[in-house]
Amino acid sequence: MDAEGTGADGIFQTPWTGVSNIYSDKVIEHFMCPQNAYSMPDADAEGSFGDPSCGDSLTIYLKVKDNTIEEISYLVYGCCASIATSSVTSVLTKGKTIDEALKIAEEDIIEALDGLPENKKHCSNLGVRALRKAIDNYLKTNRMENKNENCNTSRR
Ligand code: FES
Repeated sequence: MDAEGTGADGIFQTPWTGVSNIYSDKVIEHFMCPQNAYSMPDADAEGSFGDPSCGDSLTIYLKVKDNTIEEISYLVYGCCASIATSSVTSVLTKGKTIDEALKIAEEDIIEALDGLPENKKHCSNLGVRALRKAIDNYLKTNRMENKNENCNTSRR
């Protein structure tokens, strides 16, 4: 497709034409109907990651109870693959313990999407990095709260 949106056959193509030739059905599904895509003002923690090479960025929000990620949502700015990887990251993470969620890797996200084109594999990094930052922030805050509770207890 050239800059005017005309394909090799000379037929005008919408931005979506041909996307199914590039991406798996799973990617298209998560791109067209992203799961858990909303902000969470009362989140227990959040983490953001932006890819400086393409400008795409993702913020993940978490609600954690009894060491389990009960709720996860996100806001994403970026390409089709970054939207799909953010969506599938949230699906893979929901209901996992903190330790299990920390083990989610780029390969898991790519596999859950039935693959990504070579030049879009880096988009899976967005989900993993933002998720780990959110968990890291949760653990830091939680440790601080636990320390403060211990301090208050010992002063009584
Ligand atoms: Fe960089 Fe999608 S093109 S995250």
